[in-house]
Amino acid sequence: MAATDKTIVIGVTGGIACYKAVELVRLLVKAGHRVQVIMTRGAMEFVTPLTFQTLSGHPVASETFNLTQESEIGHINLADSADLFVIAPATANIIGKIAGGIADDLLTTVLMATQAPVLIAPAMNIHMYDNPILQENLRKLHRVGYHILEPAEGFLACGYEGKGRLPDPEVIAAEVDRLLRKNDLTGERFLITAGPTREAIDPVRYISNRSSGKMGYALARAAARRGADVVLVSGPTALACPAGVRLVSVTTAVEMHDAVNKEFGAATAVVAAAAVADYRPVATAEQKIKRGKGPMELRLEPNPDIVKALGEHKNGKLLIGFAAETQDLTANAAKKLREKNLDMIVANNVAEAGSGFDGDTNIATILDRNGGTQALPLMSKDDLADRIYDHFLALKSGR
Ligand code: CTP
Repeated sequence: MAATDKTIVIGVTGGIACYKAVELVRLLVKAGHRVQVIMTRGAMEFVTPLTFQTLSGHPVASETFNLTQESEIGHINLADSADLFVIAPATANIIGKIAGGIADDLLTTVLMATQAPVLIAPAMNIHMYDNPILQENLRKLHRVGYHILEPAEGFLACGYEGKGRLPDPEVIAAEVDRLLRKNDLTGERFLITAGPTREAIDPVRYISNRSSGKMGYALARAAARRGADVVLVSGPTALACPAGVRLVSVTTAVEMHDAVNKEFGAATAVVAAAAVADYRPVATAEQKIKRGKGPMELRLEPNPDIVKALGEHKNGKLLIGFAAETQDLTANAAKKLREKNLDMIVANNVAEAGSGFDGDTNIATILDRNGGTQALPLMSKDDLADRIYDHFLALKSGR
């Protein structure tokens, strides 16, 4: 296999699955990558550095304060040289340290300094994997942009049967491949809207909707990972801004409209994933409205249709909208695609199980301006984001 120009730094931590990391290094070297291994002390209890050194063809790094290693390799050099960082196997301990911002050995120090994408492959006992602290740590890492490879199920070295096995080296190598390949949005500047908007009734009450913002944030995360510049205009959510994404926080539809108009000029494409409130109260009471005796009426006036307004002066930019429907999914979505002058629309039935507002999954159909239709099965919002960009690239290149 011809040499690639990619450097993969592999962090090996102390678990019985270390033996699979040996095979992983062999596979990646065979695929033509330059592989640099960092071992923790725990890992060296399971496999010797010599094994990794022989297979990778490079000295194994392990000590932060070892002068020879520091002058030959250097922890910042290691961090900068990586096109991709992989931790396999990742113990509960290393995951906790990264999530806590601790850098007390070479691996955690290099990780803290790297700007490369990081793939973490946890492997541990099933009860450790189920531990809520570990799960919270993984969610935190995912939120800030680390890629987590789910452990496989099966017989575990500790004698238990269940989830916790390090996936086979071939599976990890395929994921490495996928992450390395995806720089296909480089040069694009995505403007993405996400979350709900809030329309104030009085100082303590508002009209809003059930959008969590998860789909928009997944789209921002995926676009940034694939090399795009991303600005995320977001209504109020409980989500952290993905790494490498510029966040503009707004509350109301009018604020979102203003922010989008300001960013539109510099964008090459827009993804409107926000669930914008279509109406707002005609007036916002300055003081909290007191309870009265009879029924009360609230007068509403329409908010601007943000994406429709963009569709009227596109200037060659691609517009992707969403259609949240509860009936006649594709017909309603096709109508919105036409009426808002969109290039693509992602339709989902929000009443269907697995496709609702707050979940981590979605079932969507993508329609495009050329009549192309792609019905997708249930998948994570992260996977759906990638499928949307695959369709976007295909549409752009006329495929
Ligand atoms: N949208 C927008 N501004 C609005 C309303 C919607 O930019 N005021 C965008 C959404 O971000 C989405 C698309 O338009 O990309 C469709 O949103 P949706 O709420 O499904 O459609 P509406 O046009 O509001 O139609 P309806 O609520 O009648 O189904």
